[in-house]
Amino acid sequence: SQKKFMKIAIDGPAGAGKSTVAKAVAEKTGFYYLDSGKIYRACTWVLVNNQLHMSDLDKLLHQLHSGNLEIVQQGQEGVTVYFENHKLDDELRTPQINDLVSTIASQPKIREYVTSVLRHFSCHHNVVMDGRDIGTVVFPDADVKIYLTADQRIRAQRRVEELKTSGILSTVDEVEKSIVKRDFQDQTRTHSPLQIADDAVVINSTYLSVQEVVEKVIRLISHANSQE
Ligand code: DC
Repeated sequence: SQKKFMKIAIDGPAGAGKSTVAKAVAEKTGFYYLDSGKIYRACTWVLVNNQLHMSDLDKLLHQLHSGNLEIVQQGQEGVTVYFENHKLDDELRTPQINDLVSTIASQPKIREYVTSVLRHFSCHHNVVMDGRDIGTVVFPDADVKIYLTADQRIRAQRRVEELKTSGILSTVDEVEKSIVKRDFQDQTRTHSPLQIADDAVVINSTYLSVQEVVEKVIRLISHANSQE
């Protein structure tokens, strides 16, 4: 018989705390954790690194399909992404990538490519995956779907703290402007926009600690497990 692996989808706008929560949930459950935004960022990095323009989408797709994108699991910490043996880490979080990634992610052929990468990665593991369209498009049959959000000012403040740990200094106003712009693009694009899945549980983390959110998610996973 075919073993069924659990899929936990955590979607929401930028800076809602999805990755922090997903990582903690992965640690508690032993599930793999995949940050799907990282794959969109990696595609954007390939564009920038090959000095391609937005109008060179076919060339970018060719690079992606002919190149070797590797996703290596690092414990429950999440994954490291390699493209042509080039380890992609902090270079995925630069302001340049932040500004371009939404436009790249709005392209249906890029989404098709990334979706297949995400599904392929998850076919032999229990996974927690965060992103914008995991519960709606990548895993419409996910066992648990969370839509995690928070007030935009709080999200900007949290992002600033997160960037600081990567050595990037920025102001809350600057980051708030950038995430509002990105959310607008992600919510209004034609293909797989950020939206709340019908069967998602909405969690607003403005006044919740990470631990409180994680506990809620763990409870939902236990419940889904007992329904099997
Ligand atoms: O989560 P993040 O900020 O690293 O995501 C970067 C961008 O990638 C985000 O602005 C929208 C896009 N994205 C997407 O369209 N679908 C996903 N499942 C994940 C990310």
